[in-house]
Formats: sequence, structure tokens, C-alpha cells
Amino acid sequence: MTVQSLTLVQPDDWHLHLRDGSVLSRTVQDSARQFGRAIIMPNLTPPVTTTAMAREYKARLDAQNTSLQALMTLYLTDHTSAEDIRQAHASGIVLAAKLYPAGATTNSAAGVTAMEKVYEAIATMEAIGMPLLLHGEITHDNVDIFDREKGFIDTQLIPLLDRFPGLRLVFEHITTQQAAEFVQQAGANVGATITPQHLMYNRNHLLVGGIKPHLYCLPVLKRNIHQQALQDAVASGNPRFFLGTDSAPHALGAKQSACGCAGCYSSPAAIELYAQTFEELGILDKLEAFASFNGANFYGLPYNKKTITLVREDWQIPHSLDYAGDIIIPLAAGETLRWKQKV
Ligand code: DOR
Ligand code: ZN
Repeated sequence: MTVQSLTLVQPDDWHLHLRDGSVLSRTVQDSARQFGRAIIMPNLTPPVTTTAMAREYKARLDAQNTSLQALMTLYLTDHTSAEDIRQAHASGIVLAAKLYPAGATTNSAAGVTAMEKVYEAIATMEAIGMPLLLHGEITHDNVDIFDREKGFIDTQLIPLLDRFPGLRLVFEHITTQQAAEFVQQAGANVGATITPQHLMYNRNHLLVGGIKPHLYCLPVLKRNIHQQALQDAVASGNPRFFLGTDSAPHALGAKQSACGCAGCYSSPAAIELYAQTFEELGILDKLEAFASFNGANFYGLPYNKKTITLVREDWQIPHSLDYAGDIIIPLAAGETLRWKQKV
């Protein structure tokens, strides 16, 4: 008999962009409907580079009065010092630091230009056990966009872990077989987040029959063997893979443009998208650990006390949503999902 309802310990989103200002009423609520906690990405303009900025940003998130617990991150720059890291850690509100290679993605211009620049900060993180969250792509003009994650592993990540073997590290939004294998072969100090879009789609979905700007994100969708490797990684039940949506809202006009922004807005239906994907892969029994336990274990946090229930019920993801007076197109807009969260 097919399962008709699914009750999970409330999941967390270990990689989330909420932005700032008037859109927070949309973004925070969409996540709070499903998730207990979320790791909040710091790539605002200007980026969240100090503990004081993280504290102010958290206050703006908390002012939305939802149940979502915002776990803050610090944006690393060439100038982040050991003291900046110690202060962030001591604050109790900043859980991790995010490293964007300069120029890799949205609002990464102030990111790190060379790994050596942040050795001191990273040495401190290793010593105090603060996780480093990595956007793992190299950015040289001469490196093909589809090879940038693999290039990062070979030229940056392997030497980084050789130098800092005890560093707690999350390889964010992995997209390739090489990344999945890297994490599988690494120690317990290395984890990875996997987005719904990288499990659901490959680059054919993005490019065949016309460009789909709403499937454009970074790291970009790869060929199907990589999608398959990510599916195999979640199917393996390895506890170091966990849910991170990388939900990254951009208004319609910024996506459907001659130079469209990267990011998929998956928050409105994230857990249902994962549930549908896991069911199609025949691994629905692996969903709860991936969504609700593995990330918490990695970060050393307790499981959420609440539960959420998904019921088997067809519903359509809206074609568009209001975005503070603008329009936003959610991931899989207009598609029918078979699982719906009970409210
Ligand atoms: O697609 C993406 N969008 N990837 C990122 O790394 C950043 C994000 C954003 O902030 O829009
Ligand atoms: Zn992101």
C-alpha cells in the first residue's frame, strides 16, 4: 500500500538566502512554514562581514515574528582576522563563516581572492571548531563553467584540508560526481548540502528547447551523470549529506533578463520538492535523516521538537508569487506536486 502521510521531525535548511528589507515578510515566512532553523547566507549588499552586522541582520529577521530560528554566518573577506572569527564565535549567534571565492556568484565581489589571505582566520576556525562553509568553484576566466567545481576540489580544497585536517567544513550545494566522491572519502569533519534543483534537474532541463532562466543557479546544473551521482549520494544514506536548499530569490525582471541572475527560489515548496524527488528515487525512507537529523548532527545541535506532516495530495506550485510588490517565480512553478504539507 502506498504511504498516504509522512510525519517528520521538523527539518532545517542548512543553506538559505533570505535577502533583506521589505522582501523579508515573504522569504522568512516561506521558510518558517517548513523549517525549524536555517543557516542564513551573508551575501547581502553590503555583505555581513562583522558580528555587529550579523546581530543587526538577525534582529531584522527575528522582527518578522515567525518560528524560524536564524543561524547566522560571517562573510569572509581578504581582511577577516582571527579576532573577527573569535568574536563571531563568542557571540553565540554566528555559527559558521562562508567563503565565496571573489567573483564566483551573486554579491561575491568582496569575497576571498586567494585562500592564503584567510589562513589565519581558518586556522582559528579549526582551533575553535567553527565550520567553514564553502562555495566551491574556481573563478578563472579560462576555466569552463562546468569544470569549476572539480577545479576547486583539485586546486583549493585538497590543499586546504591538507593544511587544516581538523577543519569542520561544509561543501555547499554540491553539483558533481567528484564533489560527492570527495565528501564520501573525507573524514567526519566534512559534510555537504544538496539542493532540490541539483537532485531534480540536469543541464538539459536548463538548455534544451530554450533557456530556462528560472533553473539558472550557481554552481550551474551539470550533465545527467552528475545529477545521478548526487541522487546516489542521498540514496546511500551517508549522514554527511544534508538538506540545504540554497533558495535564492531574485525578482522576475532580474531573472528574465539579457544578463539574468543566478538563483532558484525553492522555499515555497522545498520540503515537498525533496519528498517528491526522494519518492521517485524510491528512497522516501531516507528523507527524514537527510532533512532533519544529518545537518543537526553535523552542527552538533539537538533535533527539533516539533514535527511536520506531509499528506499525499496533488497541488500546483503557483505560477508566480508576490515579492514585496514585485513578482517572483518559484522553482517548479506551475508543476503539480503529490505531497503537501499539512498546515
Ligand atoms: O545561484 C546562486 N544564487 N548561487 C549562489 O551561490 C548565490 C545565490 C544568490 O545569492 O543569489
Ligand atoms: Zn547560496
